[in-house]
Formats: sequence, C-alpha cells, structure tokens
Amino acid sequence: MQVINTVNGLRDALKKPRHRGANIGFVPTMGNLHDGHISLVEEAHKTCDLVVASIFVNPLQFAVGEDLDTYPRTFEPDRKRLEDSGCDILFAPTVTEMYPNGQGIETVVDLPSLSLLHCGITRPHFFKGVATIVVKLLNMVQPDSAFFGEKDRQQLTIIRRVVSDLSIPVTIIGVPTRRDVSGLALSSRNGYLSEQERKQAALLYQLLEDTQQLILSGEKAYALLEKIANDRLTEQGFEPDYFHICQRDTLLPAQNDDTELAILVAAKLKGTRLIDNMAFEV
Ligand code: PAF
Repeated sequence: MQVINTVNGLRDALKKPRHRGANIGFVPTMGNLHDGHISLVEEAHKTCDLVVASIFVNPLQFAVGEDLDTYPRTFEPDRKRLEDSGCDILFAPTVTEMYPNGQGIETVVDLPSLSLLHCGITRPHFFKGVATIVVKLLNMVQPDSAFFGEKDRQQLTIIRRVVSDLSIPVTIIGVPTRRDVSGLALSSRNGYLSEQERKQAALLYQLLEDTQQLILSGEKAYALLEKIANDRLTEQGFEPDYFHICQRDTLLPAQNDDTELAILVAAKLKGTRLIDNMAFEV
C-alpha cells in the first residue's frame, strides 16, 4: 500500500491506473478505523480494481467546543489495518494540504433543506463541513465509486444529493451498518464509552427495533412512537437529541401512506453523542 500525503502525489499515483482503465473505488474516513470502515474497503474491492482510502480529521465539520482536539488519531494502527485489508493507496493529507487558503474558506457546499434537519438541528455547521470536504476529496481522487456507511444515513443522503445536484461523475454506494453482538452500531466515538456505557448504548438499537416492529404491526401514530422512544431514552440516562420517523429517501417526516421508512436517532450518553438508524419497508 502506498501512503501519500499530497494532492499532487495522489494525482500522479492515479494517472497510470486511470489511463489503463482501472476502476477506482474510494473510501473516505477520519481514521480511528473499526470493522465498519474495513467493510467499506472490502465492499470496494468487490467491484473496483484499485481502492483508495483517505484519513483526514476535517476541522470544518467540528464546531467550537466539539471534540476536534480530542478526536482519536491512531494513524499507525489505521495504516496497518488498511494495508491488511488490501487497500492500495492511503491518502493522508495535512490540514494545510487540504485547506491551502486557510480553514475560513469562502467556497463551501451546502444543502440547507437537508442539512438543517435531524443532526443539523443541534449541529448546523456539520453537514456543510462534510459536503465541502467530500466534494474536495472526490475532485482529488476522481473515483468511479465512493463508499459510505449507512450508519450515517443523513450524511449518505446529503452526499447522494450533492453529487446529483453538482453532476459529479461518481457512483455513491451505501454499505450496511456493522454492529457488535449487542446491536450497538460500530462507531469511532464508541471508544469514549466505558464497558458499562457500551451495554447501555445498545438501547438505541433496541428502540429502533421495537419501533420498527410496532410500525410493521400497523401502528401509524408516529408522533406518539417518537415521544415514547424519547421518554425511554431519558429514563435510561440518555440525553435524547431526536428520534424521528421519516421517509427513507428524503428524510422528511413520514406520512401515514409512506411505505419506505427510516427511523433516525441521536442521543448523548454521559457526554458521548451516538447516532443510529434503521430503514425498512412497510
Ligand atoms: O463519515 C466520516 O467519517 C466523515 O464525515 C467523512 C465522510 C470522512 C468526511 O470527513
């Protein structure tokens, strides 16, 4: 696996394979890799001749007071995991390489109608930062396909929409969420949880499953289901951010006759913000 830190180096390394007609897959990450990230690389290998992964903790998607400084940076184990998974190129740029004009860049990518819902209610800066860095990375790698986890469903939906709106020539592939045995979705932020808190955190998945079952058995009082789930979170020591039953593709509030649904949840447990979701057909 080649490790490349500059945009020019990356473009040079990709020139020959692209010329040969290689199908290039891309897995963007912020590092601190877990099995969920590796499943994206494995998925990319199924359809691509060459897989590029990136590690970049993007300052633009953190607000003041969030965990940018403490976000786990574990480059050496990450590099080894990517190499073991058969990744061909690791792109690991510095902040200056990614933002040569400074971090207060003026050109940003934003999709306010979607980015201010759900996670955007309490993190209004977040998806602007994500969409901007993903477009920059896509311009640098110019992959045929890019792979994102369904765990971050709102991120995935926004990226699909941005790619469509800006006519970026890439196929966006969503990869199912990896979970531990308790059902807890794998996430880099799970590392902030104690053993006991990890067990508690499985409640998020239980609530998604319980609510899905109620909907599948014909319950349509979505506002009431949302309230019950929020109350259960509070009773169990979480600070719920939201629990929303939505249309799967638009992420707008679900209507009674919708058949493709997604339930999205975000809650803090002892200061650690966790998110999860479940999509299904009625
Ligand atoms: O999902 C993530 O890890 C990040 O939001 C991403 C897509 C790598 C952009 O920084």
